[in-house]
Amino acid sequence: MANKITSIAQEDEKFPPSQEFRKQAAIQSLAEYKRLYSESVKNPEKFWNTQAKDLLLWRKPWKQILKWKESHAKWFVGGKLNVCENCVDRHLGTPRENKAALIYEGEPGDQKTLTYRQLHTEICKFSNALESLGIRKGDRVAIYMPMVAEAVVAMLSCARIGAVHTVIFGGFSSESIKDRVNDCAAKLVITADGGWRRGKIIDLKVNVNQALKGCPSVESVITLKRTANRVHMKKGRDFWWHDLVESASHVHKAKAFDSETPLFVLYTSGSTGKPKGVLHTSGGYLLGTTITSKYVFDLRESDTYWCTADIGWITGHSYVVYGILSNGGTNVIYEGAPNQPGPDRFWSIVDRHKVTIFYTAPTAIRAFMKWGDDHIKKHDLSSLRLLGSVGEPINPEAWKWYHKVIGGGRCPIVDTWWQTETGGIMITTLPGAVYSKPGSAGLPFFGVVPKVFNDAGKEVRKGTSGKLVLTEPWPSMLRTLYGDNKRYKETYWSEYEGVYFCGDGCRQDKDGYFWIVGRIDDVLNVSGHRLGTAEIESALVSHHSVAESATVGRPHEIKGSAIVCFVTLKDGFKGDDKLKALLRAHVGAEIGPFAKPDEIRFAKALPKTRSGKIMRRLLKDIAAGKEIHGDTTTLEDVGVVKQLQANKD
Ligand code: WT7
Repeated sequence: MANKITSIAQEDEKFPPSQEFRKQAAIQSLAEYKRLYSESVKNPEKFWNTQAKDLLLWRKPWKQILKWKESHAKWFVGGKLNVCENCVDRHLGTPRENKAALIYEGEPGDQKTLTYRQLHTEICKFSNALESLGIRKGDRVAIYMPMVAEAVVAMLSCARIGAVHTVIFGGFSSESIKDRVNDCAAKLVITADGGWRRGKIIDLKVNVNQALKGCPSVESVITLKRTANRVHMKKGRDFWWHDLVESASHVHKAKAFDSETPLFVLYTSGSTGKPKGVLHTSGGYLLGTTITSKYVFDLRESDTYWCTADIGWITGHSYVVYGILSNGGTNVIYEGAPNQPGPDRFWSIVDRHKVTIFYTAPTAIRAFMKWGDDHIKKHDLSSLRLLGSVGEPINPEAWKWYHKVIGGGRCPIVDTWWQTETGGIMITTLPGAVYSKPGSAGLPFFGVVPKVFNDAGKEVRKGTSGKLVLTEPWPSMLRTLYGDNKRYKETYWSEYEGVYFCGDGCRQDKDGYFWIVGRIDDVLNVSGHRLGTAEIESALVSHHSVAESATVGRPHEIKGSAIVCFVTLKDGFKGDDKLKALLRAHVGAEIGPFAKPDEIRFAKALPKTRSGKIMRRLLKDIAAGKEIHGDTTTLEDVGVVKQLQANKD
């Protein structure tokens, strides 16, 4: 597969930071970056030892910096800290005490600012509330909330008491909640009566109630009153957030936990139907997100930082909550859709709150491009000084538009490559030090050793495509998959012995810049959301009409990938528009509305090899309306392809 990876991106266009940006940046030259990078990889333990001491607050020093044994890392062994104390308490008694930690804006326009002092009080009260419900260190707590300040309070309170949170994105359905809650046997669910999205209420509590019909581990539910719609509260199980905190003390002492204490599980899609519970722990994860926030976003005391990601995804964990607050930064958070009430909502937020650093996804950038520059010109964006991109490769056209129209030509863009599994940013261009190339993520961050391998596990020559691997352990790496260490090893550590394989295809250019060409496994990137084709397939075959299905991605102008499903029906079912609509709704109910197929194509049969494997490569070409390329001689029945090509919508 790897030899099929091609990239037509332009390699030589360079955008260096302005002198003005450079002069104030934490790292100001390529030479300085190179010196620090080289130190970090020549003697990683020395480097991380210094950084961990400088950047975090420890209650007890570690005995060993890294313990590495066959794909299992332990960082800062014997060290003790409290992650929440690092993100909040340690800023009290400093000039940050009354600085805004969160500037929150709800979709209907309601606003709330929490200073570090106020955030601390909310967290202490909520931590006491959690403990009053019997939540203790190691217990799993599911959080299914809108993007409101209380969601951040919920996460940090779990961290404070040593409970392991698993945040479930509000776009997931009750079925998805059930799977995740059961996989980690969560004891408590924290949710809201609803959340606002495009002027409508998302019925979060309704979904939770539905899910909990099949979740025996859940003992209690805390519900935040957000939209004030009527919801069913079950006696003995359900508690209102406001009732619990009203009677809770605002004093809460944070205990110190071992560096390797699990901090959270975050489910992400892989190449089977079952999502993977990526497990992150405390000290290493916090260090990784803290150091990258500091250097990649060049975070300064006076910055107002806005990352548009939802806390339901890793970006929201690492670069809204942990990394930014640990640095004492000011976060803007926004609950709703980018085009509510109008397509200029984001720019109105940037203008009104004087955002200086803006971090978003290429799919959003492409949507803004399409909506037109007029919406942007209505607002003053001169406060911006740095832009970021994350989630998928950004096409050079969108990059340049972002640079010119949003950044006014003056803001560096950091394209950041990383994954749920890596915890923090791995490849980027440090903004004051390194020039960017539109379309390339850039160079490795400190301590990161990426290489491009061929199928035989040899490093390929510069300019040649292959599979991206990371050869050295890093502090914020995932520790395992929750409850499934076997899958952890198989997924990440068995493609090549002793080397982390991330699932992406990549090429390194002559300047050492990494160009990610996207996933080479069966994972799709749809509007910045990671989805396994197998998940969509298993949702489809769970419908009584479906015999078999195969899902592939098709390039899509805004979403990155569109979801195309080939479906073979059971005898007696008619493949008409009505059934298409039913199947789309079914996938929406099984996974979540964002996973609904863009196109469903009924097929009498799917193209298979003689050994019965579906030939997705052919389906991808058919979905994209392309000529079939490559070998088709292994096909069991060539007629199937002809029929599929003819059978367009
Ligand atoms: C996959 C990880 C990283 C947080 C959000 C997504 C793709 C991510 C980039 C980038 C090219 C990127 C990769 C990666 N990806 N960032 N800057 N350039 N591709 O996290 O859901 O775990 O997805 O997103 O394919 O493997 P995720």
